[in-house]
Amino acid sequence: MEVNISDLTWDQFIYPRGGKSEKTINAYVEALAIGAQFPPIKIQRVFNYADGNDTTEATIILDGIHRSFAFKEKGIKKIAAVEWKDKPLDYEKNKTALLLESAECNTSHGDRLSPGDKKRVARDIAASDPECKWTESALAEKLGISQQTVNTWIADIRARQKTNRNSIIIRLSRLGLSQEKTAEVVGLSQNRVSEIIGNTNFSEIDNLLSQGRDMEYIARHYNMDLPLAWALRLQGKTGQEKFKELGWGLRPWDQWNFNECDERFGDDWPGRIPAQLVAHTLFYFTKSGDLVLDPMAGGGVVPDVCLLFGRRCQSFDLAVRDNRPEILCHHWDPRNWKWPITKKPDLIFFDPPYFSKKEKEYEKKASENTPSISSYTKEDYERFLEGFFLLAHKNAKPTTRMAFLNADWRDFESTPALKEKPDKSITIFDYHRLLSKTGWKVTHRIECPLSSERLSGNQVQRMQDKRILGTVGRTLLIAKRA
Ligand SMILES: C[S@@+](CC[C@H](N)C(=O)[O-])C[C@H]1O[C@@H](n2cnc3c(N)ncnc32)[C@H](O)[C@@H]1O
Repeated sequence: MEVNISDLTWDQFIYPRGGKSEKTINAYVEALAIGAQFPPIKIQRVFNYADGNDTTEATIILDGIHRSFAFKEKGIKKIAAVEWKDKPLDYEKNKTALLLESAECNTSHGDRLSPGDKKRVARDIAASDPECKWTESALAEKLGISQQTVNTWIADIRARQKTNRNSIIIRLSRLGLSQEKTAEVVGLSQNRVSEIIGNTNFSEIDNLLSQGRDMEYIARHYNMDLPLAWALRLQGKTGQEKFKELGWGLRPWDQWNFNECDERFGDDWPGRIPAQLVAHTLFYFTKSGDLVLDPMAGGGVVPDVCLLFGRRCQSFDLAVRDNRPEILCHHWDPRNWKWPITKKPDLIFFDPPYFSKKEKEYEKKASENTPSISSYTKEDYERFLEGFFLLAHKNAKPTTRMAFLNADWRDFESTPALKEKPDKSITIFDYHRLLSKTGWKVTHRIECPLSSERLSGNQVQRMQDKRILGTVGRTLLIAKRA
């Protein structure tokens, strides 16, 4: 067959060459001038091929990039070609196979691949093959090099993949995800997941601690995240012992003030809450093994603390959290309420945006079709909460507790206290009313104030001058089904 050269795509990922060789192209151009014949190039038609923001169809060159450039330079518009597979392939699904086919063609003839090119191919394949389907010996055979060489080229990638993946599996399993779901999330078979859960051994942690290693070192050593390393270290300890080892004072009263978030737990996220606050809630209102639902998980403080305290956890957010496979993408939509879990939770830890506070930051995580509730009007925000409380009530068991965190929202920014418009504000009393209306009985009101140190000296001065009364209060309401 003959194809138009202008219809062909040179895909730099598939065609394994650091850069095309002008020397080879010139030699081919000269050869063409004296009537040389060239074998057909090898091509493949694909679909699902990324082109800017769209996906499209393309015909990519697997072998013969120099020939096609030489033809083009000679002003020849068509070139003889053979297809690798006679049907178009899904590009995304077949990327590795295409890369290898191209590499194999280029190891056997023409402008052979340099060791640098082969190394890049081996590393690209290893990186895009988290299941390690391509063994070192299979890669060696395809690339025409020794297995030992492949080993040295990709050992670091394989080590990271194995440990990272294993710790994700352990994390998901500790949070109570079924092996079937875990297998789906990490893209492995259920048998393999069960093997990993059964065989992974972290017994060396105590040794490392007794050698004076810190937790960051231990997490790095196992290539796992810090919260999981802490969870393994604290395993088997009582709740009180855990508080002590984490350096958190356990408050036996209903004022929980923590000046700062504990950076070890949860990601940097707008509205991130202190892990100590979650830990206190779990300590008083749940038992080991209980199921916690976090419907708006943001930076993931709740799942991290559940991991530490041996609670199962299901968490959701409208934001896609690539590095947090335990937080599933779910948009709570008041026009179409859906309850995404089947088991009834023991605790719902609900930390929504505090009305329009941090609206801009949450907007960046949201989209037009899945807006954050921080963009709602006051009426819609209240209606949303009422709808959510009702839905949660319907899906709760008689013993389920709701821990609802929020703050008074008043229009105080530049308004003296006496001039504030009360009908614009939403306060804890409103949330209390909505909970009662939807069948929840508030049993505890716990004050968890924000630190006033976040206000600068100038801000404080201005507020004093104008008699502005700010809010640093934040309240945790605990409710049970009435
Ligand atoms: C206060 S933040 C949660 C912070 C979290 N507790 C932490 O410590 O990182 C509220 C979260 O609600 C999410 N959110 C807002 N509207 C939502 C909706 N309709 N459905 C799902 N998530 C929503 C936002 O993306 C945001 O991450």
